[in-house]
Amino acid sequence: MLAAAARAAHLIVDGEPTVFADPLAYRLLGDGAEELVSYHRLHGEHMVLAGARAAVTTRSRYTEERLARAADAGITQYVILGAGLDSFAYRSDADVRVFEVDHPATQEWKRARLDEARIPVPDSVAYVPMDFESELLLDRLPEAGFDVTRPALVSWLGVLMYLSGEAIDRTLTELSAFAPRTEIVADYMLRPELCDEDGRMYGELVGATSAQGGEPWLSRFSPEEVAGLLKGHGFEVIEQATQRDSVDLTLWERSDAFRALGLAMVAHARVTL
Ligand SMILES: C[S@@+](CC[C@H](N)C(=O)[O-])C[C@H]1O[C@@H](n2cnc3c(N)ncnc32)[C@H](O)[C@@H]1O
Repeated sequence: MLAAAARAAHLIVDGEPTVFADPLAYRLLGDGAEELVSYHRLHGEHMVLAGARAAVTTRSRYTEERLARAADAGITQYVILGAGLDSFAYRSDADVRVFEVDHPATQEWKRARLDEARIPVPDSVAYVPMDFESELLLDRLPEAGFDVTRPALVSWLGVLMYLSGEAIDRTLTELSAFAPRTEIVADYMLRPELCDEDGRMYGELVGATSAQGGEPWLSRFSPEEVAGLLKGHGFEVIEQATQRDSVDLTLWERSDAFRALGLAMVAHARVTL
């Protein structure tokens, strides 16, 4: 909900240039939308809220830009791990089949949100309810029509910090067995000592709130550790980018409070033979 609220608020409280337009985010939040967005309306200049908007919009823009390139190159499957209220499937006319993988409880709740908001569910979307901690993607995705012989783009946004190292390792092992040319895009939290001052403060405040809400941040990494993990699982690392460098730098030429934090990185990698 907080990620969707940040995407919704970006279109309301931030000026130009828009980094990422998600016109469905507000509607998906249903009755809770106004309260969640009101924090951004009232205190949108606060580092935590401005930083949250930057974090979610830059990672989504980065991913959907890579998806567009992958689709141009013939990739027709998009797997969204930990989809939450991601709205790609409901606002895009791209010729890709979308597999939304999420915790069963979250997914059920999202589908009720879609229904309540009267947002049509296109035939191109398939739902894959599963718990990454205890189930296997390769058991569940084919049941939903995923073709394991063909490449996909797999996004994994805003999830890694909630998973144990073991679940991340197991999922990477599975992803490495996807068809060659499969790409993954994942964002991750930097270790506190690698964050800038705002990023460190954000991590302390938001990490503590998340833990109190029962969702502690379990995993943080250095870029070298992530490169090692990816290479160790047989991926070719295409790029790792800071929040700032993950999007066109002209998007930072602005006079509002929206700003990048030195907190998270996005990694883009490819399955090799
Ligand atoms: C912060 S949300 C990110 C949502 C979305 N990717 C976005 O960027 O807005 C984290 C998502 O990870 C999912 N998640 C966390 N732990 C999970 C687990 N063990 N198994 C399946 N999904 C999980 C949650 O259900 C939630 O949808």
